[in-house]
Amino acid sequence: MFSKIAIRNFSSTAASAYKVTVLGAAGGIGQPLSLLLKLNHKVTDLSLYDLRLAKGVAADLSHIPTNSTVHGFTAEDDGLAKALKDADVVLIPAGVPRKPGMTRDDLFNTNASIVRDLAKSVAENAPKAAVLIISNPVNSTVPIVREVLKSKGVFNPKKLFGVTTLDTLRANRFLSEVVDTDPAEESVTVVGGHSGITIVPLISQTPYNTRISKEKYDALIHRIQFGGDEVVKAKDGAGSATLSMAQAGARFAGSVLSGLAGEQDVVEATYIDSPLFKDQGIEFFASKVTLGPEGVKEVHELGLLSDGEEALVATAKETLKKNIAKGVDFVKANP
Ligand code: NAD
Ligand code: LMR
Repeated sequence: MFSKIAIRNFSSTAASAYKVTVLGAAGGIGQPLSLLLKLNHKVTDLSLYDLRLAKGVAADLSHIPTNSTVHGFTAEDDGLAKALKDADVVLIPAGVPRKPGMTRDDLFNTNASIVRDLAKSVAENAPKAAVLIISNPVNSTVPIVREVLKSKGVFNPKKLFGVTTLDTLRANRFLSEVVDTDPAEESVTVVGGHSGITIVPLISQTPYNTRISKEKYDALIHRIQFGGDEVVKAKDGAGSATLSMAQAGARFAGSVLSGLAGEQDVVEATYIDSPLFKDQGIEFFASKVTLGPEGVKEVHELGLLSDGEEALVATAKETLKKNIAKGVDFVKANP
């Protein structure tokens, strides 16, 4: 009996031992995200980096009896390079959050250079890692990271992800409130990008499409697109979504790890360097993808859309094109 358990434990550890690094780990998202990653048994090395407090957060989490070791790093003693060295998965929630009255794009001036500089270190120290970008504005920060990785010769489109999972969580939750179902059973596909009108929930692909009145449908779409504003307003100057985002980031990272570990049929929506609308000059787009051992295994088509959704996608593309160009131009002007 004892030896059987020991053998099973050994084989599951051997098949899924990963180093995961969080950059911005002491922040509002970083701390609960790191906690949830500490509870993921596929993570064996959890490396936490921040300009402040990362060592304290690491010491705190290190007392939880799961099979990962936790290391904390700050900028001194080459901490960023050490945190990243040979990581399998890197999550980046570093940067400033919104205050009431701001758009995500208003964060660009501060967060663009933070993300660019962190991406340079990722390229040097973890060139094969799956890189998961949380820092806003995601529509532009993901293109920034691509440009940096490209300039260092290590860009792999299968391994760069903008984390849009919070839009999926909100869509599932808000839809369930309208149709009175268990939110855990819902799975709305959300495509496009991660800001306001670029967020396009495909409600027509759910079983409830014809059960929702036009008025309720319009309110639902607006709530999903602007769900972030609800939290920014309620926090009243103290930041934006952190706890729901931590859950979203941990779920997405968990799915990436499941894909790397060779699990089948792992599907998430995410903002990637996408083939879907490249011919129209839209280089990044969020859609469902199947995740596998090399990262993105398959990019899913959007499927059948209602006329209203076709219009939402068209509007999203116009804004995305500008957001993507802004990120690319930033790196060209400020390499
Ligand atoms: P926060 O201010 O609470 O935490 C940010 C952390 O980043 C801080 O601890 C700070 O010290 C750290 N940091 C700043 N510059 C750094 C650098 N150069 N290297 C390492 N760490 C650095 O903010 P937050 O609420 O955690 O939000 C972080 C970012 O995530 C914001 O840009 C926010 O808009 C974004 N966000 C994205 C989503 C999404 O769905 N993708 C959801 C919520 C928030
Ligand atoms: C969100 O959707 O909650 C995040 O992008 C944070 C924000 O600024 O709203």
